[in-house]
Amino acid sequence: MHHFSRLDADPLRPLCAEGVQLSDIAAEVGTPCYVYSRATLERHYRVLDESLQGVAHMVCYAVKACSNIAILQLLARLGSGFDIVSGGELQRVLRAGGDPRKVVYSGVGKQADEIAQALRVRIHCLNVESEGELHTIEQVAAGLGVRAPVSIRVNPEVDPKTHKYVATGLKSSKFGVTPEVAERLYHAADRSPHLRVVGIDCHIGSQILELDPFAEAVGRVIELAERLRGQGIAIEHLDVGGGLGIVYQDEEPALPHELGAAVVAIARRHQFKVIIEPGRVLVGNAGLLLTRVVGTKTQGNKQFVIVDAAMNDLIRPSLYGAWHRIEPVHLHAGRPLQHVDVVGPVCESGDFLAQDRALPAMQPGDLVAVFGAGAYGFSMASNYNSRPRAAEVLADGEVYTLIRARETVQDLWRGELLLG
Ligand code: LLP
Repeated sequence: MHHFSRLDADPLRPLCAEGVQLSDIAAEVGTPCYVYSRATLERHYRVLDESLQGVAHMVCYAVKACSNIAILQLLARLGSGFDIVSGGELQRVLRAGGDPRKVVYSGVGKQADEIAQALRVRIHCLNVESEGELHTIEQVAAGLGVRAPVSIRVNPEVDPKTHKYVATGLKSSKFGVTPEVAERLYHAADRSPHLRVVGIDCHIGSQILELDPFAEAVGRVIELAERLRGQGIAIEHLDVGGGLGIVYQDEEPALPHELGAAVVAIARRHQFKVIIEPGRVLVGNAGLLLTRVVGTKTQGNKQFVIVDAAMNDLIRPSLYGAWHRIEPVHLHAGRPLQHVDVVGPVCESGDFLAQDRALPAMQPGDLVAVFGAGAYGFSMASNYNSRPRAAEVLADGEVYTLIRARETVQDLWRGELLLG
């Protein structure tokens, strides 16, 4: 569900973000530009939060999906917590007014200064990803004279049936620890005067469409948690990670309320508080990338539509072969359908937003919307080819707000130094 549709719901009229015409945004802010819909984001958050009402819970939005501080601020105001993976993300959350007591900190490779920063602001817990990390956390906590709240990220060895780059719960992945190692780490943590066990967690991957992998993973994690409880180790919360998929093309993902109901049932039966770390399902379809056609080109038997957004703005098609729906903002009568590659100006043959896509014939200056770009769109953008990163705006009813100004070339070389 999202609030990007055609004016007056007429399929022949221009595309809008809520009540704002995308062409107005393009005229004022320029392109490429990320456009988010506040109503969509808020609705997604509420649906998920309400689905967990039957149990004490915390929705911890995965900041990496879209980390603009205005987006974080909106979520913080709705009561959201945050799943972070770096000191930088923690600072964003604090800047946005997020409550550190609702922050969980995941990720392999947390460094001592990042851990210290998290402990100083008293986050809810650190999701521990290795034995070495547990020792580092213990040392940092000892140095600060505090007890660090920890949860061990268990790798339940479940295949999430998703792209291999975003599957994280297999033995071959760098994330989490096996249940056997986790058991040992829980005992070590329980004995330490500088650590406090608060929960257990897993995260098996992203863009997962079925409930089964979640159920299987949670089942294995609970088995371990119950054994540890039997050994006298108190585990209060169960963090089921993120990963619920969305519709990009014709997928039929399980719905948030279905996942919520399944989690509530398990958590009640085993008396856990619940944490969930959704990213994509909250913001993915709440954002699109607005871009303008620079030109068209025919080469061999290929037709290219060259737009002003590129892989540096949205890397998902190049990196994962991801499919994003593309539509012209204005539909013009009499333009035939053509099979085209929609490409950007970056000097890589892997720079494309779509390949062999049937679209109405395009002309320079036409505006194009790339849907489903709210998650892992701007947050994965780079400056490759010295391209300033896009502007970001938030549509809210009949108005929109600039939430990130377009970068300038001077922004890009800030910090670079000429030789004397
Ligand atoms: N929790 C942890 C520990 C994570 O690593 C992630 C995502 C999430 C939660 C949120 O997962 P989500 O609900 O968004 O699936 N760049 C890729 C996705 C990478 C996901 C990384 N981890 C993409 O564009 O498809």
